[in-house]
Amino acid sequence: MKGFQAAGDPFVVFVPFAVKIQEIYRSTDNLFQNALAAILLTVQEKVRNAELKKKYLVCITGASGSIYGIRTIKALLEVGHELHVVVSAWGSQVIERETGKPFALWMDELKLPPKRVYAPEDLSAPPASGSFRLDGTVVVPCSMNTAGAIASGVCLNLIHRAALTSLKEGRPLILAPRETPLSLVDLRNLTGLAEAGAAILPCSPAFYHAPQNMDELINFVVGKILDRLSIEHNLYTRWEGLQ
Ligand SMILES: Cc1cc2nc3c(=O)[nH]c(=O)nc-3n(C[C@H](O)[C@H](O)[C@H](O)COP(=O)(O)O)c2cc1C
Repeated sequence: MKGFQAAGDPFVVFVPFAVKIQEIYRSTDNLFQNALAAILLTVQEKVRNAELKKKYLVCITGASGSIYGIRTIKALLEVGHELHVVVSAWGSQVIERETGKPFALWMDELKLPPKRVYAPEDLSAPPASGSFRLDGTVVVPCSMNTAGAIASGVCLNLIHRAALTSLKEGRPLILAPRETPLSLVDLRNLTGLAEAGAAILPCSPAFYHAPQNMDELINFVVGKILDRLSIEHNLYTRWEGLQ
């Protein structure tokens, strides 16, 4: 308050200053005014886009269905959000086995910035901390090993830590298991995780939208993940009744 008084009343200083700027602006020609308006609109749009831009973490673990994880990364990048990625050691193995390509090649293809892809053993990476404010964390596919670790509060890698951080911070956490059948141990772990606030979103594509190929089956699950994050998409056709 003392500093405020020392600086004087801001209105006394600011009002004549604003009037002067208005005078200068009015004395300029149309060309200058239009150019200034265009610059202001661009700045306004950039600020709005920065406000709308969200930050997500996608983790791929060693469950079957790694393509769901790859396509989730692709979909989030296409929407233009800031994306961070962790792939577990077994996640990398399964990606290569199931897609025929190592994750490094997927990174090139998806144009994923390497500085936003973290080693699973790096517990000092930004997503390990609650101060790194993520708008959502998705583990897709989520192995029963990873579900069990998170359910027990154990941090053996960055994926476990990031998931537990989402829960403690009350931020959206989506776990997409693929496993079938589920043992009582798995069911109890998943129940505990749902009770703690995670969304359990099994990789179970539907058939009521009459999928014509594998892409449509995959997109259905990825679309459900984006739905859960309240992100608009056209990955599947929404149900509009029986006709
Ligand atoms: C080809 C392959 C497919 C697998 N599929 C599954 C699966 O669908 N669900 C699952 O829970 N584990 C699956 N596993 C086992 C996991 O990879 C294993 O439990 C591993 O420890 C998971 O480690 P992570 O959770 O750190 O990724 C699979 C393993 C291999 C090699």
